[in-house]
Parts: sequence; C-alpha cells; structure tokens
Amino acid sequence: MKKGIFITFEGGEACGKSTQVKLLKEYIESLPNKDDFIFVREPGGTKIGEEIRNLLLNYKEDAPLPMTELLLFCATRHQISENVIKPALKEGKIVIADRFYDSTVAYQGFAREIMSANEILNLTKLAIGDLKPDKTFYFKLSPHEAFKRKANCPPLDRMELEGMEFHQRVAQGYDYMANLEPERFCIVDASKSIEEIAEEIKHEFNTLVM
Ligand code: TMP
Repeated sequence: MKKGIFITFEGGEACGKSTQVKLLKEYIESLPNKDDFIFVREPGGTKIGEEIRNLLLNYKEDAPLPMTELLLFCATRHQISENVIKPALKEGKIVIADRFYDSTVAYQGFAREIMSANEILNLTKLAIGDLKPDKTFYFKLSPHEAFKRKANCPPLDRMELEGMEFHQRVAQGYDYMANLEPERFCIVDASKSIEEIAEEIKHEFNTLVM
C-alpha cells in the first residue's frame, strides 16, 4: 500500500459527500490495515477547530463579517494542518478530509467575493505552507438539484441558508479549481445513486492507495 497520501472530498450543499465519506470509512474499517487511515473534517477536526466551526456555522448572536469568516476558516485550517494532517502524513498515514481549501476558493472566493481565487490560494499558503491534496473527489451537483434535496432536511446552517445565486457561484468556484488542476480533481456525478457513487469512489480509492 502507498503511504502518506492526502485525499479530500469537496462539493456544494447536499451533494452527498459526507454520506460517501461515511461509507468509505465503513469500508476502511473492514481492512486489516485500518489504522493506517485517518479521517478529518473542515471546519473542525481539532478541539479549537470544532469551537470555530460552531462560531462559523451556528453562532446566533452576531454574524461574522466576510473577512472574519475567511480568516476563521484559515485559522482552523492552520490548526488542523499543523497538529493533525502534516504529522499523520509524515508517519505515512493516508489522510481523508471532508472539505479543505477548495471550499474556501468556492465559498469565500467565488460566492462571497471576498477576494480572488488567486488571493485565497496565497492566503492558504500562509496558513498551511505547501500542504496540498493528492486527490480531490469533487461531487458535482446542480444547485437546483441541491435545493430540492435541501428542502427535505432542515434545520439549515448559515451557509445552507444562502440563496440560489450564492450556491451557483460556489459551483463556479469548484469548476474553476477543477479546470485549474484536472490531474488532482476526480469529478463525481453526484446525481447518481448512493450505491453507484460508493462503487466509483471505492474503485478510485483502491487505485490510488493500494
Ligand atoms: P459541511 O456541512 O460540509 O461540514 O461544511 C460546512 C459548511 O462550511 C459548508 O456550508 C461549507 C462551509 N465552508 C466554507 O464556507 N469555507 C470553507 O473553507 C470550508 C472548509 C467550509
């Protein structure tokens, strides 16, 4: 098996990515070398990170300003990269992350229009240095379909409550990154069934790490 590989799962709201992370986790649990894998999520994944997650998504007292939001995402990313991801990769583990910096390009760059994708990537470099995913599964789903799915699963967090145009720009952000780095991106048609997608991910995953 290969060592020290970093895999991320990305996509807009209700794209089914977290379900697939869970299914991949179950598959890995059945492997004899399951301890060679670690799963993290963003924002969060460390004690401070989970507190920041709560501030970012559910804090009701006061909404963060756009730049506060961007810097908090970068802060939690710095924390998890230095304390969890980099040490694990150094030990040769395979790290699987539910979201990473492509989310920031899509949400804070394209959707909130805080700064350009290039500026977000420069800021990210300050936060995490040269750390970069080896492979990114991008769950591509039209915002119209995502909105239909979301209607069935309230309560919604602060990002999920944003309107259609915001989520259309999120999708443009992901498409931009996928075009910029086609080698890294594996585009998953998120309109397929859970079972079909799980098989596809398992196949890609095995090719990547075994
Ligand atoms: P989740 O629901 O997939 O766990 O993601 C949490 C929310 O945070 C989701 O709406 C996307 C958003 N987010 C950003 O806006 N920027 C980021 O950099 C990250 C990691 C997440």
